[in-house]
Amino acid sequence: MIDLKNIPSSKEDLDQYEVENNFQSWTFQPSQSPLRVVSARGVRFTTEDGRERLDFSSCFVSHNIGHQDPRVVDAICEQAKTLTSFAPSFSTRPRALLSKMLAEITPGDLSRSFISLGGTEANEAAIKICHQFTGRRKMLARYRTYHGGTATSMTLSSGDARGWAQVLGGTELVTVPQPYCYRCMFGQKYPQCDLQCVKYVDEVIELEGGEGKVAGIIFEPVTGANGIIVPPPEYFPKLREVCDKWGVLMIADEVMSGFGRTGKWFAMNHWNVVPDIMTMAKGLTCGYLPLGATIVRKHIGDRFKEQFFAHGATYAGHATACAAATAVLPIYQEDGLIENSEKMGAYLLEKASELKEKHPSVGDVRGLGLFVGLELVKNKKTREPIMPLKARIESGVNPKLAVAKKLGELGMMAMAANPSNVIALAPPLIVTKDEIDEGIGIMDQALEMADAFVE
Ligand SMILES: Cc1ncc(COP(=O)(O)O)c(C=O)c1O
Repeated sequence: MIDLKNIPSSKEDLDQYEVENNFQSWTFQPSQSPLRVVSARGVRFTTEDGRERLDFSSCFVSHNIGHQDPRVVDAICEQAKTLTSFAPSFSTRPRALLSKMLAEITPGDLSRSFISLGGTEANEAAIKICHQFTGRRKMLARYRTYHGGTATSMTLSSGDARGWAQVLGGTELVTVPQPYCYRCMFGQKYPQCDLQCVKYVDEVIELEGGEGKVAGIIFEPVTGANGIIVPPPEYFPKLREVCDKWGVLMIADEVMSGFGRTGKWFAMNHWNVVPDIMTMAKGLTCGYLPLGATIVRKHIGDRFKEQFFAHGATYAGHATACAAATAVLPIYQEDGLIENSEKMGAYLLEKASELKEKHPSVGDVRGLGLFVGLELVKNKKTREPIMPLKARIESGVNPKLAVAKKLGELGMMAMAANPSNVIALAPPLIVTKDEIDEGIGIMDQALEMADAFVE
């Protein structure tokens, strides 16, 4: 074995370790090392070649407050010097404070949290709580969604091509459509449709055994990686009625849409609907350290005073990660970031809509807050997708990835590494008008790559 303190670490050595010794997420394993990032600040990051680039994806919609905010770095250092972590059967100050903060910022009587390490774990906890609370097995999820990479979360990620390779299932699943008005699965138009997508859920619950069998429905309030799908205003209030009718729990996965991303603390705030369980990660610590949380309404939390809570993890409520979160959350308030997301989000949507007018490959532009998607099509009139679903997980020519590659050459990162035909723009919530203009200018050039595929 080599001396572990003195591992060769030239650029070429590091490149080789990346290629030979590391798994890259959700992709064919590359034959070349990805670009190495050496530093980041605000909305920009710097790669090893010394080039500064614009982060218009907030690192998969996580770094909401921007990179390397010293207030959070200092809080992490302070906590690490005192107590990095301790067994979860003990209390720590950061965990207690974070639990209270989450109860304060989330809607309604959501009040008791299980604090884990990331989004997929938050969803696993939510599903287990849902099963334990209702005593029922069946879960509803919606097509075109992503809930995480672990077995149950991936099973619930219906229609996300990343799940097609999965062999083991994790829950008894029934899948229902999204309120995806641009490609309505019922062939309807909003508002004449009378929200067929919610009526369908009602009927499916009945056919699946209703209150005797169906435990919950999990959804992204604004769908992220699968295409920035924003529901019509009546969707969630009506879904709440259906769920109440059958005693089915609503699980809002706010892993991407939470923490100001859509211009409110949580996307569910737009419709004044309180879910029974809400999951979060990403903007909770903004990537400064890994953390996820599952928060439940009071009556659900109270149940577990009498019923055994059958879930846990060694690092649940990790003290230093919780300290990062307790430093991050006040920054949203102090710096007015949620208001900025609403304001700059409207501007970003306006500028992105101009790209739709200009580029034949942009079929639809939609979004809420700083969460804006451009859907690529072959033909604007017919709405034929620029690439069929299956082709997107096969190697070969992929128009969206051609755009992403061009963006990389031009010095910008957007959210393109996902299975939909949608490129998402989701800069940190500190973004300014000038930076949006800069990002839109780069996007304008990169979209020419997709225009080449238009028929
Ligand atoms: C909506 C949603 N849920 C869950 C996850 C999984 O989160 P993580 O990657 O932290 O496990 C993601 C990740 O992108 C997501 O977008």
